[in-house]
Amino acid sequence: MSSGAPDAGRAGGREAGRDPVRVRVCPDGPLLLRGADEVMDADGRAHPVTRPVVAVCVCGGTARAPWCDGTHALLNKRRAANNS
Ligand code: FES
Repeated sequence: MSSGAPDAGRAGGREAGRDPVRVRVCPDGPLLLRGADEVMDADGRAHPVTRPVVAVCVCGGTARAPWCDGTHALLNKRRAANNS
């Protein structure tokens, strides 16, 4: 069974000589990919990237996989409330 999580290591389709894909890890949030052409999810489906920067969900809570829809913020608030 797949989690639906993206394979951030396969932001592929790059041509030689192009700028590398840059990945920024947001604390308690998504991965921000700059310069990717596509994101391959855990089921092997390629999701074309049409913007310069995209946010990829790593929390598993998004309704728009593989893209972050902001649900991580709600999950973080719930986790903090449960720990207080
Ligand atoms: S990281 Fe933002 S919804 Fe999962």
